[in-house]
Amino acid sequence: MNASILLLPGDGIGPEVVAGAERVLRAVAARFGHQFDISSALIGGAALSQGQAPLPDSTLEAARRAGAILLGAVGDPSYDTAPPSERPEAALLAIRRELALYANLRPARVWPGLESAGPLKPEVLAGTDMLIVRELTGGLYYGEPRGYADDGSSAHNTMRYSRLEVERVARRAFEAARLRRRRVTSVDKANVLETSRLWRQVVTAVGASYPDVTLEHMLVDTCAMKLAYAPSSFDVVLTENMFGDILSDEAGAVVGSLGLLPSASLGDAAGLFEPVHGSAPDIAGKDIANPIGAVASAAMLLRHALGLELEAVAVEEAIEGALTSGARTADLAGGAGQSLGTRAMAEAIADRVTAAAV
Ligand code: NAD
Ligand code: IPM
Ligand code: MN
Repeated sequence: MNASILLLPGDGIGPEVVAGAERVLRAVAARFGHQFDISSALIGGAALSQGQAPLPDSTLEAARRAGAILLGAVGDPSYDTAPPSERPEAALLAIRRELALYANLRPARVWPGLESAGPLKPEVLAGTDMLIVRELTGGLYYGEPRGYADDGSSAHNTMRYSRLEVERVARRAFEAARLRRRRVTSVDKANVLETSRLWRQVVTAVGASYPDVTLEHMLVDTCAMKLAYAPSSFDVVLTENMFGDILSDEAGAVVGSLGLLPSASLGDAAGLFEPVHGSAPDIAGKDIANPIGAVASAAMLLRHALGLELEAVAVEEAIEGALTSGARTADLAGGAGQSLGTRAMAEAIADRVTAAAV
């Protein structure tokens, strides 16, 4: 197959983890005989520092043309006091909206060998394998009106959802559940918020077309608690934009490290794939970041954007193989034993992709 893949490395550890994922993609191309036309473009602080907008027009055009997009992270503390539209994060919000990437799939599972890497007891973590389906282009992040009062004495954001916005992401969650354990937990705050009551109504209606999938509703505070004490009880977790942002970082901690989590942002056209973590300025440029979230995002890219299921599984098996053989980045080593750098971990995974050919 011939496919064009656009890399958007971005800021902080973004370029390091994307380089690792690129290495693995090249190993996949060599092993399976594909031609990947890989190019890259500026986004976030990396674009701002060149005097460009956080999402330059040329980047957005390249994204529209690409078969798939792999993003590292955006965010740079030096822009913390800039107005919202001149912050690196504005690029991410804009590209999601421009490409209508309304469904964000964030899988979190316990990898073999990492049963003790996180803060939970291994017996609590055992069997954890969930998929958070986060609505990505609505809710508080995009609702209007937003802003400050003229005299600066208050500020406001708007939480708004239309039936259509809820319906289309709910369908994605039910479809995903059919390929898994056929359970959807829809998470909201229906005891307080109108948007959540609408959410619950629409999800229930969509659920009626999926009688083979069990649907339960859960309040978001309860869900946060249950994620920590019974993470294995979840299959698909369907929720709105901000709740999904928060719960997915929690899921990262639960399975051992935020650095492990991949994501796929899907709409009706080409998808964007990115690790759940941010630019991690505290560890940037040190070759210690965990590249697995980015590499597993590349696996999701192969699966969801290019339809290359075998190749996606090969990458996931290579990650599993590396972890089972004891490869650990610093975040997973917990101070014990030798850890691998970002590059060495990506290489260990790429080597397994290659070696599996013989
Ligand atoms: P973060 O996700 O960057 O980091 C949180 C913590 O997790 C840090 O201690 C970091 O060192 C650690 N961590 C994150 N990824 C890791 C990895 N791959 N390996 C090992 N450790 C890892 O969140 P933050 O520090 O709150 O935010 C930093 C910047 O990133 C901010 O500007 C924020 O807006 C941005 N951000 C961007 C994205 C994105 O691009 N998708 C996501 C979240 C945050
Ligand atoms: C994420 C990030 C982004 C979000 C920020 C950087 C805009 O935290 O992708 O999880 O909140 O969606
Ligand atoms: Mn987040």
